[in-house]
Amino acid sequence: MYDMKLLVFGDIYGRKGRQLIAQYLPELRTKYDPDFVIANSENLTNGKGPIPEHLHELQRSGVDIFTGGNHSFANMDFCADYMNTPNSPQLRPANFYDSKHYQLPGRGVWLFEKNGKKLLVINLISGNFLKDDVYNPFLKIDEILTEHPLEKYDGIIVDFHRESTAESYCMAEWVSGRVSLQYGTHTHVQTNDDRILASGTGAMTDIGMTGALNSSIGQEFKGWIPTFVSGTGHFSGKKETDMGPGVVCGVFVEIQKGKCIHLEKIRIIEWV
Ligand SMILES: [Fe+2]
Repeated sequence: MYDMKLLVFGDIYGRKGRQLIAQYLPELRTKYDPDFVIANSENLTNGKGPIPEHLHELQRSGVDIFTGGNHSFANMDFCADYMNTPNSPQLRPANFYDSKHYQLPGRGVWLFEKNGKKLLVINLISGNFLKDDVYNPFLKIDEILTEHPLEKYDGIIVDFHRESTAESYCMAEWVSGRVSLQYGTHTHVQTNDDRILASGTGAMTDIGMTGALNSSIGQEFKGWIPTFVSGTGHFSGKKETDMGPGVVCGVFVEIQKGKCIHLEKIRIIEWV
């Protein structure tokens, strides 16, 4: 018997992604009856960081909590106040450098409570193959989990925004037994490696994108193919696409006594 149920989505890409969540989330909520719905919003506004209007749109569709990534600060002028609000549902990776010199908006760890259920959400970003220079995510989560042992909560989940599959597996092993679920976002392609470790930690390298199915990570091909053919970005005009069918990707999770007892991939293709 579960203590808590979660519906978790990876990167929601642009207008197409928002439309897909509005279209499919109500029936997914009816089917799974989750306590919390979590989604990554770093591509929400034309492929970059969210503006509050688009976060409100997803909240109306039934999303409770938002995580982020390398594009989290793209619309900082519009979103900083929203991210700094007490109990803001919008997180961003915890391991960006914060200092007395430059203070970034938002936070990367937060306790969410609903219907008596306590869920700690942690957001991390890798420094490998991504442009941002960040504090080591392995050391950062050690610090976080020392302060937040799993016993204090009904569940702890970690969105690790990264490129490398190898690093994702190492992170899963690093937090094994200390969190309920560690999952990846950012590559936009759902991996077929959902698993529950012997410790009770659920893990999956990338839970996948919600956006245009026939696209290059949510963007139109005519923006990206010239980059690969010419070897430069000179010919590219990278835009989101809302042409053709969409894909909705995520996972459904059941947690008991902090351990993952059920991890189920969700991948719905919209035929239009
Ligand atoms: Fe990303």
